[in-house]
Amino acid sequence: MKIFLDTADLDEIRRAGDANLIDGVTTNPSLVAKVAGDRDPKELYLEICEAVSGPVSLEVVGVDRETMVTEGRKLAAIHENAVVKVPLTEAGLKACRDLVEEGNRVNVTLCFSVSQALLAAKAGAAFISPFVGRIDDISGEGMQVIHQIRQVYDNYDYDTEILVASIRSPAHVVESMLIGADCCTMPPSVLWQLSKHPLTDRGLDAFLSDWGKLGAEL
Ligand code: E4P
Repeated sequence: MKIFLDTADLDEIRRAGDANLIDGVTTNPSLVAKVAGDRDPKELYLEICEAVSGPVSLEVVGVDRETMVTEGRKLAAIHENAVVKVPLTEAGLKACRDLVEEGNRVNVTLCFSVSQALLAAKAGAAFISPFVGRIDDISGEGMQVIHQIRQVYDNYDYDTEILVASIRSPAHVVESMLIGADCCTMPPSVLWQLSKHPLTDRGLDAFLSDWGKLGAEL
């Protein structure tokens, strides 16, 4: 399963990229607003794309089809790693189709149901981003939606990749792997939590303390 980092923070992207742990990055306007400051977001997008050897989702902010397509073309031209992100609205689906027909990869975002995911696949999306955490937040079953999308895409042979988004915990990631989702995008905090286990810490402490008794060096 591919791991994407859900951030626009270059330090975090480089930190995870250092050990080749991530396959790509997803951003959204809120994540960019957190870190961009006075910078032109397009400059930031270029730096992110250059820092990663994989897809980097860059989101349009227009709401009508024409504006989304115009913005999508500009975003796609930033770098070969750029994937245009459009919202799952009627205009977004139509913009997706237009952009795909021009040879761009599109990530359809803000997906909350299997029926929405079906339409994104029909519009030619390379990725569908179902937001599991936000579904859980309103007492829904986010991972159930992932199960359903996996089943529908497999039933009808859609090759749109399921990119599980709005991940809140390692449990979301583990369940995504078990379901067979194609990718998960997660905040850096969740990525590093995946590496943690109390028995690892306890075991390492014991090994180091025992080794210390030898007074030897390697
Ligand atoms: C997906 O691409 C979004 O950027 C993201 O996963 C949204 O997550 P949130 O619900 O934590 O804001």
